Parts: sequence; structure tokens; C-alpha cells
Amino acid sequence: MTIREAAFQSLITLLRQKSGLIITPDKLYLVESRLRPVAELLGFRDLAAFADHLALAPSERAVQLTIEAMATHETSFFRDGAPFQRLKDDLLPALTRARSPQTPLRFLCAACSSGQEPLSLAMLLDEMGMLAGPRPISIVSFDISDQILEKARTGVYSDFQVNRGLTPERIQRHFTRLGDNYRAQPKLMAAIDYRKVNILNGLAGLGMFDIIFCRNVLIYFDDPTKAQILSAMARLLPQDGVLILGSSETVLKESAAFVPERIGRGVFVKPPIAAAGVMPSLVARG
Ligand SMILES: C[S@@+](CC[C@H](N)C(=O)[O-])C[C@H]1O[C@@H](n2cnc3c(N)ncnc32)[C@H](O)[C@@H]1O
Repeated sequence: MTIREAAFQSLITLLRQKSGLIITPDKLYLVESRLRPVAELLGFRDLAAFADHLALAPSERAVQLTIEAMATHETSFFRDGAPFQRLKDDLLPALTRARSPQTPLRFLCAACSSGQEPLSLAMLLDEMGMLAGPRPISIVSFDISDQILEKARTGVYSDFQVNRGLTPERIQRHFTRLGDNYRAQPKLMAAIDYRKVNILNGLAGLGMFDIIFCRNVLIYFDDPTKAQILSAMARLLPQDGVLILGSSETVLKESAAFVPERIGRGVFVKPPIAAAGVMPSLVARG
């Protein structure tokens, strides 16, 4: 039995409210195929009964498993290449110069999926000699999905996963073989603090950051939600902080929180404080 139209509408609303995820009506088949196993797992007689449960008074577990089932976790090491090259070439050197030597550097990976993004950053920091240095480094990484965070926390990746984005030299340097899989070096894992956070409501308690990655997640949200998240992220960055989005993403025209940086797609900064004549110090001027 399939999800009836009314139940499908309630499901769309529930997902939007609880996770921000937008499901369009043409995704009915996807919803059905992903939720059927959840309905079975939770003991509902069919999908329609599960949809009714979600529409009426859903249990927390049913909501969490529904979000888990509908979220897309696609990711890879050094995804898109360019932002990591920018970090290496000028953003990280400029950040190091702008902060006193003992000042901790804090990075945030929002919607980190199975951990390839924070680990790529940790590898880069290690290769630049910054992980072993006197300056404390932390990479706070969060996702809404318990299941994906559980995977991320193991630091273990398949042959296929490590070969998506990593050179043989990087695999050799940063992983040890574990049967058919690869385990990330403990010093990389030690730099990463994985947390369960819903990007819609959990950001204020995370503290301040120098650089925020928020890549390939805003695409799933509507414009008001994107604007709310961008404003929340702007509050977590100092004036010279940097926001890195996915290569095909941009900030909203109507959001005053960030502007594209001059060089390089996907890199955003706070608008200059015109009256004070202050320009962000971490980015190239010209
Ligand atoms: C496509 S992955 C992006 C992974 C990584 N940032 C990248 O660019 O490769 C999107 C991730 O966003 C997470 N996500 C979706 N809604 C979220 C929310 N409301 N709060 C936190 N994470 C969320 C999903 O669980 C998924 O792991």
C-alpha cells in the first residue's frame, strides 16, 4: 500500500519542520522506497499506517529514523578540490599570521556526513605542520544523523571511499590498513570533535570559529531556512572569519550575512564594515 496524498503532505511538513529538508511532490517514489524499511523495522503493518503515525503523534524514534532515511549523505575526501587548495595556499597561512601563536584555531564542519570533510581538513593541517604545533587546533563536526555520526566516529573507510579523493601517498601517510578497510591515524581523529546537532537550532552553543565549512546541505533547504542558517553562522565568525560553501552553492542575494570573496568559488566573507573601513584580513586584497 502506498502513502496517501494527505499523509504525504503531512510527511513533507514534518520533515521541513524537524530537519529543514524539503521534499518535493515528485519525490513520492523516493519517500516510499526509503520509508518502507523504516515502517517494517518499527512494526507498522504497512507504509500508510506508518505515514498516519507520523502525521498524528509521531514518536521521537519514528521522526529520527524518518530524517535518517530521507537525508542524503553523499560526500568524499577533498571534495571539489579547490577550497582545500585555497586553504593551503592562502587562507590558513593568513589565519596563522592574523592570530597570536598560542591562540587556538577552531574550525566547524556543519553537516559533516561520514567524516571525509573534517578528515580532509585534518590531513591538510597535518601536512602543513599545524596539527603537531604548539597552537591548539579543533575541528568541531556535526550532523543530524546518529547513524552517519556513528560511522564517522570509527574513522574507518572502505577501499572505495579512500580512493575517492585521496592519492596513494595520502592513504599511505594518513591511514593504516584494517583488513579490507583503512583506519584514519589517531592524531587526525583526535583533532575532530563529532557532535549530533540539528543545524536549524543548535548553533549558538558551539562557540566561535575561524573557518566554517557548510557544504552541500543548504541545497536541501528553502530560502528562509537558508537565510536563518547563514545569519546564525555569521554570529559564530569574527569579522575576518571565512565561510566555505559547496562549489555550486552561493549565499542568498537578500542575505546580508556574507558576500562572495573576490577569488575562488565557494569562499564567502562577512561584508566589510564600511564605516570603519575594516576589510577581512584573511582574504587576498586587490
Ligand atoms: C550531502 S551531505 C554533505 C556532506 C559534506 N558536507 C560534503 O559536502 O561532502 C549532507 C549532510 O547533511 C546532513 N543534514 C541534513 N539536514 C541536517 C540538519 N537539519 N542538521 C544537520 N545536518 C543535516 C545529512 O545528514 C547529510 O549527512
